[in-house]
Amino acid sequence: MVNKFKTLYRHIIEEERKIPEATGQLSDLLSDIALACKVISLEVNRAGLIDILGFTGQTNIQGEEVKKLDKYANEILTHVMKTSGHTCAVCSEEEEFFIPVEPLYEAKVLENKYICHFDPLDGSSNIDANIAIGTIFSIYKRKSLKGPGTLEDCIQPGINQVAAGYVVYGSSTVLVYTAGKGVHGFTLDPSAGEFLLSYENMQIPRKSKTYSVNEGNYNKWSKGMQKFIDYLKEKDDTTGRPYTSRYVGSLVADFHRNLLYGGIFMYPADAKNPKGKLRLLYEANPLSFIIEQAGGKASDGKNRILDIVPDTLHQRTPLFIGSYDDVSLAEKFLSEYD
Ligand code: AHG
Ligand code: MN
Ligand code: MN
Repeated sequence: MVNKFKTLYRHIIEEERKIPEATGQLSDLLSDIALACKVISLEVNRAGLIDILGFTGQTNIQGEEVKKLDKYANEILTHVMKTSGHTCAVCSEEEEFFIPVEPLYEAKVLENKYICHFDPLDGSSNIDANIAIGTIFSIYKRKSLKGPGTLEDCIQPGINQVAAGYVVYGSSTVLVYTAGKGVHGFTLDPSAGEFLLSYENMQIPRKSKTYSVNEGNYNKWSKGMQKFIDYLKEKDDTTGRPYTSRYVGSLVADFHRNLLYGGIFMYPADAKNPKGKLRLLYEANPLSFIIEQAGGKASDGKNRILDIVPDTLHQRTPLFIGSYDDVSLAEKFLSEYD
């Protein structure tokens, strides 16, 4: 039974106290992110009321339309991260370049030892339809020794993450994070303004009965991918088929449901997106760190996502993520037919 009065802040502090060399900076940083997400959550809930919906008319560097809430979420997270005193660089899906951050406290330059990446608003095409959207974040330690962070600090493989998490703005607002010691979930109590522990040590079922993919892309997929989906749809009681299909179109929402109930989410390479659609640093890496901590698996179809060494900030990757056995099976189909 979960202690229903354990706040996110208390949980983070208690976890960090277990590490003798911890300085409390990561706890501070995670609390700052949670605060920014509470503010975003309020805006998401008020979106229809204050005429914040609609397009800004601008496009982000991926060439996609940016909506007002994306811009707002990006601004608030960037601001909070830059002023936290703990970051030397901030990277956002909505920004073309990384944002170097000057140390706030000159005497203690290593205070700003973290890099923060985020997808400020994931699933943004769903905003107008009252469908769950979210924020994804990821934290690394810097490699350079002092001053503002460098590009090299910002493009590290996912295996170097020290913490990662996401927030789903859904029927309630839920924050899920890992700092490398299990995955923990918190639900926002709007009256108290606090995230309260609601899921401790989350584990994804090893095998599932659910797949999440944009099946409209079927004709653009490789043979292996088509065969895999055909297989999941066949009837066979001994292997628990057919699987059920669930696809929200907000990665965070699809991921969160699959984490709770089991499932495999896929965004493969296709004829239109030969490198996949999702971003390695802002989407795939943080969720891959979480899924591995929860006993699941994340792959680009061949290789472990967390081992990919990035070349650029906005690099894309195919993504197969979720229940361990289902992701392994997808890899098997791709290696056999592609
Ligand atoms: P974002 O809103 O941050 O650009 O991400 C959208 C992503 C992801 O959330 C979702 O799973 C995927 O795009 C949906 O893509 P399709 O519409 O091609 O299925
Ligand atoms: Mn996204
Ligand atoms: Mn986004």
